Amino acid sequence: MKKLWGGRFQKSPEQWVDEFGASIDFDQKLVQEDIQGSLAHVKMLAKCGILEEKDADKIIEGLQILQQKAEKNELSFSAAYEDIHLNLEKLLIDEIGPIGGKLHTGRSRNDQVATDMHLYLRNHVEVILSGIEELQDALLQKAEENVETVLPGYTHLQRAQPISLAHHLLAYFWMLQRDKERMKESLKRINVSPLGSGALAGTTFPIDRHYSAELLGFEGIYENSLDGVSDRDFILEFLSHSSILMMHLSRFCEELILWCSEEFKFIELDDTYATGSSMMPQKKNPDMAELIRGKTGRTYGNLFSLLTIMKGLPLAYNKDLQEDKEGMFDTVETVEGSLKIFSGMTATLKVNKAKMGQSVKEDFSNATELADYLAKKGMPFREAHEVVGKLVYQCIEKSIYLSSLDFEEYQKASPLFEKDLYEALDPYQAVSRRISDGGTGFGKVKEALQKASALIQTAK
Ligand code: ARG
Repeated sequence: MKKLWGGRFQKSPEQWVDEFGASIDFDQKLVQEDIQGSLAHVKMLAKCGILEEKDADKIIEGLQILQQKAEKNELSFSAAYEDIHLNLEKLLIDEIGPIGGKLHTGRSRNDQVATDMHLYLRNHVEVILSGIEELQDALLQKAEENVETVLPGYTHLQRAQPISLAHHLLAYFWMLQRDKERMKESLKRINVSPLGSGALAGTTFPIDRHYSAELLGFEGIYENSLDGVSDRDFILEFLSHSSILMMHLSRFCEELILWCSEEFKFIELDDTYATGSSMMPQKKNPDMAELIRGKTGRTYGNLFSLLTIMKGLPLAYNKDLQEDKEGMFDTVETVEGSLKIFSGMTATLKVNKAKMGQSVKEDFSNATELADYLAKKGMPFREAHEVVGKLVYQCIEKSIYLSSLDFEEYQKASPLFEKDLYEALDPYQAVSRRISDGGTGFGKVKEALQKASALIQTAK
């Protein structure tokens, strides 16, 4: 079969070589973006007098037909035409005749593919931004219902101090807020037009790059044509921001998985987000949370893959860059899917308030309260720490908790102890006494909830 670039060649490559070099299997995802880019390009060519109006109209008409066919999944592509760009050009020529061949005037596949990627990512970053917001919404709702739900807070996965469940959930809200800011900020660099950079050096035609950029809704153009065709920083940024986002989701998954184990029993996931075992009838496995935790691996992989592809590339375009696509598509799908699952999983999970409340009564997570109690009565905190540490040891020896230790023992440990020490030990009181900004105190958590929902409201 004759290639669209076949003029200089004496023989056609063998079919398996064609197939190895082709990207159509995956870059057909860019079909709409590619047509959109072509429409802008041809309108620009007409406006600049490079194409006659009637030719341009014919090409526009043809592209619109392809657009409709693409929507209905009626286009058939072939590896013989390598990629989405050449496939569409061939289909256009089939549709409107040799005039279709004028579309590629003053353009190269190199600026064309870069344009497609910018358009694709711009669309999907918007989808991801609203996915993040949906999850933030679900977290806010759960947090609102659980301001006064007390559970153990952990460090080193050891019980540390009692906290409000809302405070715990809001920690993820703020992580996601940063993810959203990073994604939004990156739109500045995504929303730039490489179109008109040509193969690498620009073109001899009197094109108007600003006009095609404007038609495509880009905020500006690449200042340098070599950079325009070979820059993939905007994808790397996206992959990097996505990796951080997935890392956040994965940490949360890990907690949900722990929390729905028999050992914790802090929550129960809705049946929709769990599966059974083919052998063990009692099982309810948190598959979706595990899967999102697992999928975090591929997003890191996609980032490393593209960083590695880029590191040795001389300017400008190299075929290596064709390898930028699958990882990007994969990350887009992974992130969009994970966010969607996560919102539903969060909105439907049931909190076992009783079990959480019971846990903080059966541990030493109130020990700091006692040290603070002594410190407030004038004992240097370091000494108070030592006194309470010894009391904890005494309790462990007796297999009891601090709230069950006799008052005489406290008095022996320090004369500063009075009967009200038992109130100080109450986990609910422990949380409510925390008054510092950003802390878990119920009052501060309510303030945080207000700030958080105001942020969501303004974004809407
Ligand atoms: N399929 C190619 C890619 O994805 C399009 C650009 C090809 N350009 C070229 N000169 N071979 O990178």
